Amino acid sequence: MVTGNVLVVDDDEQIRQALVDRLGHWGHRAAQAKDGDEAMKAASAAEFDVVLLDLLMPGRNGLEVLRDLKQAGCTADVVVLTAQGSIESAVEAIRGGAADFLTKPADFSLLKAVIDRLLEQRRLVRVNQSLVERVQSAGPVVLGSSAGMKQLLETASRAAQGTTTILLTGESGSGKQVLAEYLHAQSPRHAGPFVYLNCVALSDELIESTLFGHERGAFTGAVSRKEGRLEAAAGGTAFLDEVGDVSPRLQAKLLHFLESGEFERVGGTRTIRVDCRVIAATNRDLEAAVREGAFREDLYFRLNVIGLRIPPLRERTEDIPELAEAFLARFAAELRRGALRFAPETLGILTRYAWPGNVRQLRNAVERMAVLAPGEILTPDLLPPELTDGAPASDAEPTDLPFKDAVHEFRKRYLARALRDAGGNQRVAAERLGLQRTFLNRLIRTYGL
Ligand SMILES: Nc1ncnc2c1ncn2[C@@H]1O[C@H](COP(=O)(O)OP(=O)(O)OP(=O)(O)O)[C@@H](O)[C@H]1O
Ligand SMILES: [Mg+2]
Repeated sequence: MVTGNVLVVDDDEQIRQALVDRLGHWGHRAAQAKDGDEAMKAASAAEFDVVLLDLLMPGRNGLEVLRDLKQAGCTADVVVLTAQGSIESAVEAIRGGAADFLTKPADFSLLKAVIDRLLEQRRLVRVNQSLVERVQSAGPVVLGSSAGMKQLLETASRAAQGTTTILLTGESGSGKQVLAEYLHAQSPRHAGPFVYLNCVALSDELIESTLFGHERGAFTGAVSRKEGRLEAAAGGTAFLDEVGDVSPRLQAKLLHFLESGEFERVGGTRTIRVDCRVIAATNRDLEAAVREGAFREDLYFRLNVIGLRIPPLRERTEDIPELAEAFLARFAAELRRGALRFAPETLGILTRYAWPGNVRQLRNAVERMAVLAPGEILTPDLLPPELTDGAPASDAEPTDLPFKDAVHEFRKRYLARALRDAGGNQRVAAERLGLQRTFLNRLIRTYGL
């Protein structure tokens, strides 16, 4: 049971003493005051969790004392004691910030229940605050001590201080979201909200109303007014993921917001101002999209005031062992596996692999090994098949082979890589390689991929 500091304020000596005795019996520390003046003095001298406050007292009445306590910054929960039948004053006390009320003479078992509940609530609030602070002070962990990542994080820390829009680019799984959270945590707005919105796979209308909110009746189903994610991000950061997928119409609305800080909800005419920092991310080539006319150039420049590119994992192989070890430690702890270690050959293969799915793929591979490992040491046979099958994925050229075989080998690796990058989607791969899909399909069969 939680015990606390309680102040009893009542002009009736007998009642006061009875309450103090009872509180002591329940394990609380109790102090007493016979009127408003004494109560204010006591509250400025010590911190209380709960104040039991009589409403009918000579001099300042209980409601006035309640108001004065609140004004003096007293954070205790105040429980008022009212005479039977004076519900109006109880209601007034609650409006004035009292936590609860009891009728006199106080029923002790009821009093105990009220105090226990308030103390438990206060305990939970404290626990929650400390958790929030811990999470905030730790921030997201962004691993990587390669030169490329070090430089990126340094620029990011500086960029985090301002309020300009930041555009994060990088292949899928390279850590754009991790970096966005890091930027928020490093920024002066870290105590504010970090709000995430993914623009992919949502219809235009849904993105718009999610982002900007909507007024009641704006469209079928809009039964009540709804705040958008941008409003929810006030004082903090809004992270717009996959911003390259936004339609031209919404691009215009987004640009307007970025330039003016203002927008209207869907179906609304009121101008809404929101102070939030926007971080956007995309794994599409926005410059190419601008050239093709699919993405507004002015919006691109506006988003890209600060552009941060996360290098793909294969361009920073020094980070691989560090990331792999960190993920392994995490999964071993989660799975309660005790110590798990990579065999040196395993780490070698991990480091040489090209990681088309970047850090996410590495994390998944390590998780898989941690789950499947029969013993403490992770041997290469536990690696996912794509790491050990067929052609090594390193970029080394097959220079030792006769010309014809080398070309064959090169084509095979080239195609395998393109397929992997496209997540096995032949249509996407064909588009990227500039091949007809049917031709790509024939090549795939020729090379037995
Ligand atoms: N530098 C890093 N340090 C620690 N973990 C990382 C790092 N980069 C990525 N990760 C982990 O890899 C996974 C993928 O990262 P994230 O979601 O940020 O990628 P992304 O670039 O947003 O990918 P997508 O384009 O597919 O959305 C996450 O689980 C994240 O925790
Ligand atoms: Mg992402």
